[in-house]
Amino acid sequence: MAKRKIAVAYSGGLDTSVMVKWLSAKYDADIITVTGVLGETAELDGLEEKALRTGAIKAHIVDLKEEFISNFAFQSLKAGALYEGVYPMATAIGRPLLAKLLIDIALNEGADTIAHGCTGKGNDQVRFEVGIQSLAPQLNILAPLRFWEFKCREEEIEYALENNIPVKATKKSPYSIDENLWGVAIECGILEDPTQAPPEDAYRMTINPKLAPSNPETITIEFKKGIPIELNNHFRSPAELVKELNFIGGKHGVGRIDLIENRVVGIKSREVYEAPAAVILHKAHYELEKLVLDKETFRYKQDVSNKVANLIYDGLWYSTLFKGLMAFVDSTQKTVTGKVVLELYKGNVTVLSRTSPFSLYNKELATYTAEDTFDHKAAEGFLKIYGLPYKTLTLVKNSFVEEIK
Ligand code: ARG
Repeated sequence: MAKRKIAVAYSGGLDTSVMVKWLSAKYDADIITVTGVLGETAELDGLEEKALRTGAIKAHIVDLKEEFISNFAFQSLKAGALYEGVYPMATAIGRPLLAKLLIDIALNEGADTIAHGCTGKGNDQVRFEVGIQSLAPQLNILAPLRFWEFKCREEEIEYALENNIPVKATKKSPYSIDENLWGVAIECGILEDPTQAPPEDAYRMTINPKLAPSNPETITIEFKKGIPIELNNHFRSPAELVKELNFIGGKHGVGRIDLIENRVVGIKSREVYEAPAAVILHKAHYELEKLVLDKETFRYKQDVSNKVANLIYDGLWYSTLFKGLMAFVDSTQKTVTGKVVLELYKGNVTVLSRTSPFSLYNKELATYTAEDTFDHKAAEGFLKIYGLPYKTLTLVKNSFVEEIK
């Protein structure tokens, strides 16, 4: 009889390496590893060989960078989705794509179970598991870190050595890091103390703004229907554009975020993020929306942005509500086309100019010079009616001064 197959979300780190061996022994299963590449820094050299040496029967490594930026990062950008006002959610938007990849491979390979290496107190277990339940409810899910016997890293290393699992001898960084093209998330170590400023060694994508060049750099970003298509007047694929912008922004110390955040599982945690491209693109995109969206749509969209951010963070990318709100977002983006010029300088991003063929800014209406075409007299009638509820209220209050004291 053919063995049971389990598809494992695999990074090649200690946890997922131990998991491959442990799962195949415990469940007498064939293990298929799945690695989705969402960034530049993933250690891919020898990864397939390592997975096979650890006991997997097959190792899939799939480059998803373009799909990740187009279909996940740029969707969240269009929505203006920043969790708790600041976090561009590199990690949170990566998980639904990885969940989809795991499902596709599991189904193709005839696996009945997906295993992941998330812990029981993080957000990522939520995003993986709700994603899998939403897209492929017939699959089983295993999260060994929530119930296996190893209580610490040392015990995992011991198991790895006993089982000939290659472990890197390098000293472990004090931080837990999750990185992709949209940004990096850094936690643990001294960062767990919110009274302490993040030490310099926590950062990897950005230079300290104090040490950034003393000459500002001007950049131009062109958007078409809410999507960035050109950087400095050169067409770039989505992943290329983000990569280049990370480099330029990082050089100027742009995109550092230090956040005390509310996790899905109820705890507050402190995380440090670096996301130069995401921070610049959100600022530029929002600026263009200020120019082209009518007042009510602009105001309403701010509520939608916040809701979409919460849904993404909470693992509900594949929900009906998310799809519905994104349909609204798309309807607002038809005129979000144009150019934004920004200046990067010692950690700051400043908008210098914005232009769009769909600009609603009308200088003749706005100006205080003789060219003014605004009908000042019409304001008189408008205010008689607009202020009427408040005038009425105060008149009534005044006639009952004693009674309502
Ligand atoms: N707090 C972030 C989120 O929930 C990042 C989580 C992963 N962070 C990490 N350093 N491993 O989206």
